[in-house]
Amino acid sequence: MKIRTLKDISEIKGKKILLRVDFNVPLEENGEIRDDTRIKESLPTIEKLVEEGGKVIILSHLGRPKGKMDETLRLTKVAEHLEKLTGKQVKKSSEILGDETEKIISGMNEGDIAMLENIRFSPGEEECEPEFTKKLAGLGEIFINDAFGAAHRKHASTAGIADHLPAYAGLLMEKEITALSPLLSDKIEKPLTVIFGGAKIDTKIGIIKNFLGKADYFLVGGALANTFLAAAGYNVGESLYEKDKIGTARDIMLECEKKKEHFILPHDVVCAEEISEDAETIDIPVEDVIGNMKILDIGKWTTEKYCNILEKSKTVIWNGPLGLSEHTPFQNGTKTIAEFLAKHDSTSIIGGGDTADAIKKLGIDESGFTHISTGGGACIEFLSGDKLPGIEALKK
Ligand code: 3PG
Repeated sequence: MKIRTLKDISEIKGKKILLRVDFNVPLEENGEIRDDTRIKESLPTIEKLVEEGGKVIILSHLGRPKGKMDETLRLTKVAEHLEKLTGKQVKKSSEILGDETEKIISGMNEGDIAMLENIRFSPGEEECEPEFTKKLAGLGEIFINDAFGAAHRKHASTAGIADHLPAYAGLLMEKEITALSPLLSDKIEKPLTVIFGGAKIDTKIGIIKNFLGKADYFLVGGALANTFLAAAGYNVGESLYEKDKIGTARDIMLECEKKKEHFILPHDVVCAEEISEDAETIDIPVEDVIGNMKILDIGKWTTEKYCNILEKSKTVIWNGPLGLSEHTPFQNGTKTIAEFLAKHDSTSIIGGGDTADAIKKLGIDESGFTHISTGGGACIEFLSGDKLPGIEALKK
């Protein structure tokens, strides 16, 4: 995929650069940042632009304020955190467009950093409203998009601005595209195994369809597996599953059978009657699930079987935790698979969002994976083969 990158910019020095990042970081209840990965991942781009004397004007969204101001979603804490990480002042505006923003920008020197307020406080952002987009673009001379995590959105600051300014990918955007693109080509090293977990089938259908005929194994876990188990005729007790998606699940399994692909469901599962840190659990064959049992993790035997398949895999794509891994009694499947993969010599690509969060919380050595995406929905759409508006806008 050929996109314009920082290397294609003839002059950064002295230029007003609108830099879109995805600083949509998880927050604690008191508004403190719980995980700053997304901020750290964009540091190389910010530091490069500062070093080269650009005037860096940062745009980001935080949460889903739906076009209205929301005090709890201001970017103030994010700007303060960026100051700590860069050791430089970040001139934070309390608005998007207006006098304060203009004053800050006109007072910027080479290498300065400014940050506008949460871009989603304006209804023009998500609507990609032409007047708003034009005004936003008018604040800068160059547009750089480093927000891979928001590249699946056709918003003013992720795609629209590119109609008005020369547009380039930042270093993080480039890194994500470079890591994920080979998975869509014929050059994948086989065997290829795709691991699916999480809760909702709809979010995974695109990837499953895109890898039908390419993947050697699909390994399934999480609440998603319950829907497939129910579709295969098992009693899933009181487990979370999507009743209305049973038909979809059945179609996927039939399709895999036709294509002679291995679509593997858990054979044994960890069950409990309640979800808590001290829940009593049993590991039983799926056919023994009854009554008010809830399936909350893949069982030991299944975990071992999945590890055996991973052992012979050359490429692994993983999206979605395999159990309710935020609770200790239900984290064995996700933890064991993550530890195994982190040590195994294969190309391992971790879809962002919940999977990346789980790996971090479980304290797995992240350097053992080939790539952990900063995108959740964006990563899924990319791997589904969809065209992402934020990336399309950067194509040569
Ligand atoms: C994400 O967290 O996946 C991105 O920041 C995009 O956020 P959104 O789903 O609210 O558009």
